[in-house]
Amino acid sequence: MINTEILPVTAGKTETEQLHLRRAADCIKTGGLVVFPTETVYGLGGNALDGEAAKKIYAAKGRPSDNPLIIHVSTPEEAEKYAYTGELYYKLAERFMPGPLTLVLTAKDTVPKNTRGGLDTVAVRCPENMIARELIRLAGVPIAAPSANLSGSPSPTTARHVLEDMSGRVDMIIDGGAADFGLESTILKIDGDVATLLRPGKITKADLEACIGIVEVSHAVTEALAPGERVLSPGMKYRHYAPDKPLTLVGGSDEARIAFFAERQKEGAVIICYDEQAAKLMPDSVITIGAGDDLEAQGHRLFAALRECNSLEGKCVYANLPSTDGFGLALYNRLIRAAAHTVVYPDEL
Ligand code: TXA
Ligand code: MG
Repeated sequence: MINTEILPVTAGKTETEQLHLRRAADCIKTGGLVVFPTETVYGLGGNALDGEAAKKIYAAKGRPSDNPLIIHVSTPEEAEKYAYTGELYYKLAERFMPGPLTLVLTAKDTVPKNTRGGLDTVAVRCPENMIARELIRLAGVPIAAPSANLSGSPSPTTARHVLEDMSGRVDMIIDGGAADFGLESTILKIDGDVATLLRPGKITKADLEACIGIVEVSHAVTEALAPGERVLSPGMKYRHYAPDKPLTLVGGSDEARIAFFAERQKEGAVIICYDEQAAKLMPDSVITIGAGDDLEAQGHRLFAALRECNSLEGKCVYANLPSTDGFGLALYNRLIRAAAHTVVYPDEL
């Protein structure tokens, strides 16, 4: 067990906050682990150029070491040192960086194999959050960081979530308040002139296509994998975001869904639903994630809701099946994994 220190930093402007950030950067430089806020979710950071730090990250998360880490840089140009960039990279960087976009590129030898899970590619991201960027700048090295949750749990969007999972496992946690978006970055793989979406996020397929033309979508974004299937992104193989009770998604008409939720509630289920649906359900076992048409609010609250399920009594959890349009695809992708692809349509029952 490590003694985990919590360092509150909101704007990074005061002398105390600057001191906290310098200490955190020193900790990274000397091989330690620091959790830091980003605009998407909290990241569990270590020196991306130190293969031993990568091993410590995998151990702290309980993550299989074939599941590579994203390296975070403080400017888009810095990626040049670690990956083969090109025209597509710079088009995307100009439009979306800093921001919630991760690009998978062919790696240079400067990135240790441990950091990239043994692959020939490396994922690069330049976060928008000022605390994250300042930390990378002060550390003077890129920061390798997966989401700061235990492997399999929902990604943390507050420092309290981080503490639940990482207390005693990391040296420091920078508490920068709630994450802005609450879902992880969009991941796009670039291979010559082919771009493939590996994980949907705040930056949508349509946003990307408006910038670079056609974007393919890996079938693993929405579908379950065939047994033994090779995937473009190792993270797609693993179960994710799951609460401690089985989750089922509910599709179909609004009326049928509400009636179904109400019945299941009587049998002791927990319901994750939209604000307007809650009025028709018993309040004790309901968790709301925003209005049905407010996808941003839902993205913001989804992971907290999945965590909250664990503290409620109940045998199982039901939630609405999101649409796959626009930003909905990001919600769909997280929920379908959390539910291990279990969906029911009460209209058809
Ligand atoms: O918003 C985010 O991206 C957050 C914050 C902390 O930056 N990070 C994050 O990291 O979500 P992580 O490790 O939880 O998810 C990254 C995903 C994993 O599923 C991993 O398999 C995939 O990216 N990945 C990383 N490097 C890759 C590569 N070279 N090729 C394909 N997939 C890769
Ligand atoms: Mg993760």
